[in-house]
Amino acid sequence: MIKVAIMGCGTIGSGVYEVIEENQAILKKELGDEIRVSRILDLREFPGTPYEKLVTGDFSAIEKDPEISIVVETMGGTKPAYQFVKACLLAGKHVVTSNKALVAAHGTELLQIARDKNINFLFEAAVGGGIPVIRTLGTGYAGQEIMEITGILNGTTNYILTEMDRRGTSFGDALAEAQRLGYAERNPEADVEGFDTCRKIAILTSLVTDSEVNFEQIHTEGITKIDTTDFAYAKKLNANIKLVGSAVRENGRVAVSVCPKLIPEDNPLYGVSGVFNGILIRGNMLGVTMLYGSGAGKLPTASAVLADIIEAAKNMDRNVPFGWHEGQTVPEPMEDSLHRYLIRFKGSDSAKAKAVFADAEAVSPDGEAAGEEFALFTGVMREKDMQAAAAQFDNIIKVIRA
Ligand code: HSE
Repeated sequence: MIKVAIMGCGTIGSGVYEVIEENQAILKKELGDEIRVSRILDLREFPGTPYEKLVTGDFSAIEKDPEISIVVETMGGTKPAYQFVKACLLAGKHVVTSNKALVAAHGTELLQIARDKNINFLFEAAVGGGIPVIRTLGTGYAGQEIMEITGILNGTTNYILTEMDRRGTSFGDALAEAQRLGYAERNPEADVEGFDTCRKIAILTSLVTDSEVNFEQIHTEGITKIDTTDFAYAKKLNANIKLVGSAVRENGRVAVSVCPKLIPEDNPLYGVSGVFNGILIRGNMLGVTMLYGSGAGKLPTASAVLADIIEAAKNMDRNVPFGWHEGQTVPEPMEDSLHRYLIRFKGSDSAKAKAVFADAEAVSPDGEAAGEEFALFTGVMREKDMQAAAAQFDNIIKVIRA
């Protein structure tokens, strides 16, 4: 029997317990062995649950138990997750985590410890929930260069933007509805400010460049400033607005960013709605593919954890080549990146704006905005050139990249 411990019995942790119990027969068939959860670390008690007797508040009960060979970390955050995960790896236990904050901040070190100890540190569930994007990049698209990953990587913000687009709901009302439905946290900052997407694109970029991309060096903007007028302009351009994490490799440079972007209707990401995630991958041989599915939630995320548990169980005595190695990939400065821009201006006198952004097309406003403002959709410009041109105006309401 393979004994597993779960650290953190929140939504994902309890989901992992559930899928292991529920799928016992499948696991037995696949592995020829039984997998059982033997300990759950949490400071809370869970009276009346089937796992009530497994719960402990004492980490050493897991760290020092030689029979536990795989530890699942679903605590979230880095403190104390980092300390606990490192201790488990050093104790020779395989670790499977869903924790993107931990992987983005400490992945390089934890992957190396796993290699040194001939065990595995796996984190499929940290990006894209139930979508096997990490495994796909590592094995499905092995042997080629991944030139671009552009993903809708956060279900919460995608739900909010979809509501704003389809129902004309304000950002605040859409967020409140997301919170009511359990899609958004009471403190939604990590999602709506783009921090969650930032960690996820940092992990994916590190995987394809085989070296660490420091998430703190990624230009990150959230969706809090997006309003319904932006969607009206987007419609006129046959586009939608999505929060995307993007990594584009060209001539040895990597441009990485997180920001709301206009997505034209011929882009497969255009149709990724509600809480779903979509991840567009461009390989030098593959061309373009999009992975689509449930990027968050209890059972989809627990399913990804389960797949990693099976991977560890099948490779108990060896480190499967995975992850990235030491070294840094420094993202290209945002100011050097190339985009088209939708620029909204206050007022109605567009002569100067049309002269400065000479190759831009005019996008006329609707309803209340008509007469109050106008907008231009520029050609492709370098960010710093757009900023320099925009600095000539004191009536710019907003700039959205495409
Ligand atoms: N809040 C995150 C999301 C959870 O909506 O995608 C999964 O990381």
